[in-house]
Amino acid sequence: MRAFATGPRVALAADARSDAHHRFATDVAAAAAPRRHVVSARRDAHARSPGVRARWALPRGFASGPPGVAPAPSVVARASASDDPDRGPGFGFGSRALDASRLDARGRVPVGARTVILGIETSCDDTGAAVITGDGRVLGEAIASQGEIHAKWGGVVPNLAREAHENAIDDVVARALAAADVRPENLSAVAVTVGPGLSMCLRVGVVKAQNMCVEHSLPIVPVHHMEAHALVARVGEGGKKREGVEKGVDETSDETSDVYETSSARASFPFLALLVSGGHNQLILATAIGEYRVLGGALDDALGEAYDKTARLLGLDVGGGGGPALEALAKRGDPKKYKFPVPLRKRKDCDFSYAGLKTAVRLAVERDLGKPSDGDAFSNVQGLEGDDDGVPNRNAETEAFGPEETARRDAIRADIAASFQFAAVKHLEERTRRAIAWARESLSLETENEDAEKRDLSCVVVAGGVAANATVRATLGSVAEEAGLPLVLPPPRWCTDNGVMVAWAGVERFRLGLAEEAPSAEQLEPKSVSDGKKDEDASRPARREVPLLPRWPLGTRDARATGEVKSSKTARIAPPLRGAPLR
Ligand code: KG4
Ligand code: ZN
Repeated sequence: MRAFATGPRVALAADARSDAHHRFATDVAAAAAPRRHVVSARRDAHARSPGVRARWALPRGFASGPPGVAPAPSVVARASASDDPDRGPGFGFGSRALDASRLDARGRVPVGARTVILGIETSCDDTGAAVITGDGRVLGEAIASQGEIHAKWGGVVPNLAREAHENAIDDVVARALAAADVRPENLSAVAVTVGPGLSMCLRVGVVKAQNMCVEHSLPIVPVHHMEAHALVARVGEGGKKREGVEKGVDETSDETSDVYETSSARASFPFLALLVSGGHNQLILATAIGEYRVLGGALDDALGEAYDKTARLLGLDVGGGGGPALEALAKRGDPKKYKFPVPLRKRKDCDFSYAGLKTAVRLAVERDLGKPSDGDAFSNVQGLEGDDDGVPNRNAETEAFGPEETARRDAIRADIAASFQFAAVKHLEERTRRAIAWARESLSLETENEDAEKRDLSCVVVAGGVAANATVRATLGSVAEEAGLPLVLPPPRWCTDNGVMVAWAGVERFRLGLAEEAPSAEQLEPKSVSDGKKDEDASRPARREVPLLPRWPLGTRDARATGEVKSSKTARIAPPLRGAPLR
């Protein structure tokens, strides 16, 4: 069990396209891990073969472990762009390495108060953009949410989402820049989410970023969506204090939320992050930028999805998001009324599962409120619409059941909502408590950590859409307190998808030189796809090749974690995010 910490470390110098590169990458790995056993391997054949490209197209210049073997995150090495000019340290964007003139002697980019980065987010159903300085001042932010568009479909409809992103992207970016009073040509770089997410949505943001970068000769910083969720807890870390409420923030937004709820200023490494969103449920030990050990993940539905589905099952108006609607209803209910099972109590690991809880809720709804006539949407029975606080419209239900029965049904709904939330959050609490212990065990065993501060967690971060939930925030606050750790909670509007988190992840990666020059105009030319299937492809319009990583793990799973992703699903998954600098 402890082999990850005590056994010989393995660093794989990979992604080598030639002997010279191979030797170079091996040297880099050896330099980074002088006391460790360094294994080298060639991946040329795989890298060149289009069929396996998706599996092997490593972020260029990064070293990674062999398939199935999770290297200790601390041994990851990165080839410096300045030493290896024809390979960028990016994400296989096919574009050019960061120009050597931008880098200092260590291969890093000097980033400070005068660095200004635009971040673009389009991975799911929010079009977000923000402008931030290198020291963490948010100069402007803008967002367009698609909640209303998808509400009636019971989930995000990719085609509709793409269309909405396409309609919103120019305006959202323009609004963020205007609020910041920054012209595009004065930006230092553009950061954009390249994965994970819906390809057709990611594409909208990446195309916009590429176009801006080409037009204004700006570097592009590819960003991992979940890394951005975690790193937003570090906005301003290392920089000077932010001054009050930023310019450009929507005036209707909750201003008190601008203050971090934390006893320490910002998250510093190493920290534990609980990331809870619509698509992900993860516990991560973060030791440096790009170094994430996955202590636990979702075996089935993520919590945000469970919130959304439960909200629909209860007939709530989900136009403003299922999570907030359910949270509002739960405030009125009794969390102990229904004894829903807390998931995975018998599994002593840090994974999550919400499918069983969802079924238990469905059975309770069917028993006490009647069976929905049409799939999930219980509201279809009555054609109910929600009022402002997320409770189904009483007038419609009163007609069907009469006032007394309607009130009784309202109370049942509230109790189910509160009891669901109770069990759901209890699950988060239990897994996080164990993950803190695991993380601490790992860090204390990392004997090469000479710095005493690095031998324990600095704090617990809770981020992602569900971290906007007050019960989640309060509960995790107690877990952290009990462990004697500060809790760092980004303001709610930076928990749900937004441009600030991408812009800030951009700052952190840009500083390490983890960016690329703008693609050449030639690279942006549409190409027709012709892999020998000419007949079929002839009718297909030429498309610009846009590098995306729709399925992309944040890190490798910890040795103690079980329940690997099913093998049938791994084929098209990009390798884990890497990107630690040489140290
Ligand atoms: O991070 P996010 O904006 O998008 C993804 O990356 O998935 O998270 C969206 C999820 C949705 O499922 C939404 O219902 C949930 O976060 N959410 C909440 C709350 N606000 C958003 N869940 C519970 N309570 C909330 N207040
Ligand atoms: Zn998200």
